[in-house]
Amino acid sequence: MSSENFCGYENIDEILFSAEQIQERVHQLGEAISKDYETKDPMLISMLKGGAIFTADLTRFMSVPLTLDFMAISSYRSNGNSGVVRILKDLDESIEGKEVIIVEDIVATGLTLSYLVRFLKARNPASLKICTLLDRVVSRIIDVPISYRGFELPDVFVVGYGLDFQQHYRNLPFICTLKTGTR
Ligand code: IMP
Ligand code: MG
Repeated sequence: MSSENFCGYENIDEILFSAEQIQERVHQLGEAISKDYETKDPMLISMLKGGAIFTADLTRFMSVPLTLDFMAISSYRSNGNSGVVRILKDLDESIEGKEVIIVEDIVATGLTLSYLVRFLKARNPASLKICTLLDRVVSRIIDVPISYRGFELPDVFVVGYGLDFQQHYRNLPFICTLKTGTR
């Protein structure tokens, strides 16, 4: 692996959201969702891999009974921008009649989620809402209704707290940009 490609911490540029800011915001989201779903026994669908770390913290800030399932999809990018998404790991449980909340790391173009929402609605959940940590509105191509959002993001690519560049940086407790030339 050449030194230019090494995904080391020296490539971190600017920290946009600190670990403290993230924890505070995720705590608020957990409380808001708990309030809205007080008697509903929601089922959270965590989108692997990016949403896993956010989900782990979010669920521990929730004070209502809930269930958790995981799903992995390949983004449209690897399918040449076709808007078609491949299911890499489907849910273990049925969502029929359930109060479902999709938990994502980031909504950018909206293409991945809009496909996923159509796909999951066909399985007849009682309700289907979206919770995303980050929302890069400037990248949006297709509108998706977001019920819970952590932070709005400017037009930058970020890593950390679940988000990756070439599978690295997911473990950072903060969200940051990378130096120009490292990606
Ligand atoms: P979409 O463009 O809304 O379909 O976003 C698809 C996926 O791209 C997201 O779920 C992320 O996994 C990934 N992605 C988009 N923007 C970023 C970023 O800034 N950093 C890391 N991953 C990203
Ligand atoms: Mg994602």
